[in-house]
Amino acid sequence: MGADASAWEAAHAAAASAAVSLISLTTIADSVAVHALVSRVWGEEELRPSLARAFQHAGCGVYGAADADGGLVGFVLGFLGWNGGMHMHSHMLAVLPEWRSRGVGYSPKLAQRAACLEAGVDEARWTYDPLVTRNARFNLVKLGTVATSFFPDFYGEMTDRINKGDRSDRFEVRWRLGSERVGRAVSRTARQPPAGPVLLACVGQGDMPRPKETGAQPEPGAVVELPPDHSALRAGDAALGLEWRETSARAFQACFDAGLAAAWIDRQGRYVFLPAKELMA
Ligand SMILES: CC(C)(COP(=O)(O)OP(=O)(O)OC[C@H]1O[C@@H](n2cnc3c(N)ncnc32)[C@H](O)[C@@H]1OP(=O)(O)O)[C@@H](O)C(=O)NCCC(=O)NCCS
Repeated sequence: MGADASAWEAAHAAAASAAVSLISLTTIADSVAVHALVSRVWGEEELRPSLARAFQHAGCGVYGAADADGGLVGFVLGFLGWNGGMHMHSHMLAVLPEWRSRGVGYSPKLAQRAACLEAGVDEARWTYDPLVTRNARFNLVKLGTVATSFFPDFYGEMTDRINKGDRSDRFEVRWRLGSERVGRAVSRTARQPPAGPVLLACVGQGDMPRPKETGAQPEPGAVVELPPDHSALRAGDAALGLEWRETSARAFQACFDAGLAAAWIDRQGRYVFLPAKELMA
């Protein structure tokens, strides 16, 4: 079987195990459904149906996950760019809150991968908030991306439901679609790398730990620990949320400046950084 065919097979298998159908979103009704889903997740103004329609028309690969009644419960949308080489920039991925953590978001991402490989595009990139540990694990471990850059305040001020009131620091991940690393992630055979010195540590148990900068050097295996849910933490204590934002930014910057990239995050929210050259060889 060719690489593209097995990539499509993996996407459909992921959808089946999440009890959804993988669909290509091509119609006007689909672009209205995408707008409605985005409105529920980020807010009404975040994606007009006409823009979703334009993405569809250009053939950017707008894929969705549908429930048994055909209702849209998740989708992914991106566009091609050539900054530093031709790649898919994956701009939006979302699943309705009541459908999350069942594998639904995974299948449109695998469809995006299959479609890119079929079109001869071998890399996808996107940005995400490095303090959202769920998304970090989804990106680095489940999909097998590598976070190669850190952009403090990437979007400037944001007004949507998820990001309002916080600084828009972002990691950029690279998803090398045909790589061995991604193959291991998709076959669920990836293993956690050995951990090294801890640069930023959580002090105190529970949901509201404080950050402690240890002064350790950013060597291969460097660890940056994060609170389990930064969004809930900053809702409960805005000053502590900001302290995490600022201390984590210093730790991340030190790692990237030392030629490291984020390779892994465990379920406790501990990032592990490894040499970028090895990860991207
Ligand atoms: C990101 C999003 C699309 C994921 O969709 P989903 O359907 O929940 O994703 P899946 O069920 O396929 O995968 C969830 C993965 O997230 C990670 N995850 C979920 N909960 C976690 C937790 N408490 N701790 C650590 N990792 C967690 C895991 O990798 C998990 O997969 P696994 O359990 O198989 O290891 C969804 O959470 C969402 O819509 N979020 C809001 C919008 C958003 O943040 N979009 C940007 C994405 S970069």
